[in-house]
Amino acid sequence: VAMKKALILGALTLLAIGSPCGGEDIVEIPEVAGFPKFPVTPGIPNTLICLVDNIFPPVTNITWFSNGHLVPEGIAETTFYPKSDHSFLKFSYLTFVPSTEDFYDCKVEHRSLEEFLLKHWGIADKTLVCALGLSLGLMGVVIGTIFIIQVLHSRGTSSHHRTSCPGP
Ligand SMILES: *[C@@H]1O[C@H](CO)[C@@H](O)[C@H](O)[C@H]1NC(C)=O
Repeated sequence: VAMKKALILGALTLLAIGSPCGGEDIVEIPEVAGFPKFPVTPGIPNTLICLVDNIFPPVTNITWFSNGHLVPEGIAETTFYPKSDHSFLKFSYLTFVPSTEDFYDCKVEHRSLEEFLLKHWGIADKTLVCALGLSLGLMGVVIGTIFIIQVLHSRGTSSHHRTSCPGP
């Protein structure tokens, strides 16, 4: 009996050592997206969604951080949804009350990654992006106006030259 046990143990050990070297050791690098479920209003409860795509093998740890601290509760996870390319898709949900000061990170661990992936979300970041976009837009309007004025000016002055162009 002891001999049999030893044999089984040996076979299992060989299997465990051998499997990572097998040809079927496919590993995909996951992709992470983070977004709120509803339009965000500070003080109105909402849900943050962390979408992890392209997972293979279907083993991951998805954790949430609020202002850099691990969130221990208020999290729900879906199962791994199989996709046609044989990788998997998974969602993690965090219920939260948006505030302009708070920021959130969805952390994804997978054996394809040396460390982990983080998806950052916060109202302040969005405001910053908005402000940046707005200032760029305003700059565009100013530059555009100057450009139009210049074009109009040069048209006015160049109308004399035009008459000297050889006609058909
Ligand atoms: C998930 O977390 C556990 C416990 O911290 C760790 O042992 C395991 O390696 C992690 N899995 C992945 C895929 O990173």
